[in-house]
Amino acid sequence: SHLSLWGGRFAGGPADALAALSRSTHFDWRLARYDVAGSRAHSRVLHRAGLLDDDELAGMLAALDRLDADVASGAFAPGADDEDVHTALERGLIERAGAHLGGKLRAGRSRNDQIATLVRMYLRDSARELANGVLDVVDALITQAADHPDAVMPGRTHLQHAQPVLLAHHLLAHAWPLMRDVQRWVDWDSRAAVSPYGSGALAGSSLGLDPDAVAADLGFDASVENSIDGTASRDVVAEFAFVVAMTGVDLSRLSEEVILWATKEFGFVRLDDAYSTGSSIMPQKKNPDVAELARGKAGRLIGDLSGLLATLKGLPLAYNRDLQEDKEPVFDGVDTLELLLPAVAGMVATLTFDTGRMAALAPQGFSLATDIAEWLVREGVPFRVAHEVAGSCVRVCEEQGKELWDLTDDELAGISEHLTPAVREVLSVEGSIASRDGHGGTAPVRVVEQLARAGALSADL
Ligand code: ARG
Repeated sequence: SHLSLWGGRFAGGPADALAALSRSTHFDWRLARYDVAGSRAHSRVLHRAGLLDDDELAGMLAALDRLDADVASGAFAPGADDEDVHTALERGLIERAGAHLGGKLRAGRSRNDQIATLVRMYLRDSARELANGVLDVVDALITQAADHPDAVMPGRTHLQHAQPVLLAHHLLAHAWPLMRDVQRWVDWDSRAAVSPYGSGALAGSSLGLDPDAVAADLGFDASVENSIDGTASRDVVAEFAFVVAMTGVDLSRLSEEVILWATKEFGFVRLDDAYSTGSSIMPQKKNPDVAELARGKAGRLIGDLSGLLATLKGLPLAYNRDLQEDKEPVFDGVDTLELLLPAVAGMVATLTFDTGRMAALAPQGFSLATDIAEWLVREGVPFRVAHEVAGSCVRVCEEQGKELWDLTDDELAGISEHLTPAVREVLSVEGSIASRDGHGGTAPVRVVEQLARAGALSADL
């Protein structure tokens, strides 16, 4: 007595092995309430096309309301014989509306256009929630930046000391990519806001149903221009998975720095007890597990995206059952980011910076050598020469085991006639940072403006 959607053509039910392989209710059930919403909208266009009379529409909507309430409360759930969310809900509808009325709803739609629509509805809601979670991380970064307006640190390239920067400038450099991830979701939504409902199996519907009415009913801006595209494409799903993966990568790069900064060797930050873990054997340990899990889960999110793209790669038009594999990767992405974002936001918000240590390290490793070269350029020396002179300063200091500002007047003059004692003006971290005052630079005046712009954008998103 397998309840199947295609009984007419088949003499028997599916083999157990096929049924087990086919079943998707353990993951697609999270779309159930979207499917009920789709069914309400579909009932209304059936009514408008004259395929349900007034009483039938009222009966259908009432049964769908009861079904929706039972899905929400858990009173109705998929059974072992239900292949997917659509099959289960059709059974639930028939149980509530009777076989005659319940059997009318399937006219003019297919699970192919249904599932393509439900995934978009679910992802649009998820994108809004995830974007808010990302903005919480952004706000934590902006608040830390605002709380440390004067703190300096060694800026690095190749992980080597490069030039001193403001801590606030560095923290905001993590906020901007995360805000772009949110912008990506906003932009993505304009493509996701197009409804495939009404595409049918692939060719559209012959029953005079209005896809635009369903689209509007379900909060979409429009319905698809092409029913084959509507049922066969998953680029919008893959693009969502990309933004999830990119967000994961951005969180991972931030996390990698927190992990480094929390080491004894860096000693830049202390993690709050609430956002670090101990060791079961080593009593002294305080581990950056939030950051490590963020770094680790980024790999998983990249896998979700790559797996989905691999599923899509060889598919001919239109619907193929392979497309059922589109859902788990994005569901995993949503679940993973929903766990990760509050933890990363809390970790960032509760970091304590050792600004004294960061300031002491900022000028080390000859990070002011560029400032000597640029001072010489302002004195009219060609940069090629200036670079060489500054390099000689570094070599002399390295040989003598001292820092650039320890060079005597005679030593400076010995390296180059252009190196007068006045060069010492730029041999300070504050001087170096203040001099980088072009738009986007690390000078305090610019970073104050940047902070205001970052705050305004994040409030706007
Ligand atoms: N469960 C399928 C999916 O997730 C939708 C059903 C379409 N099945 C079919 N045999 N046409 O893609």
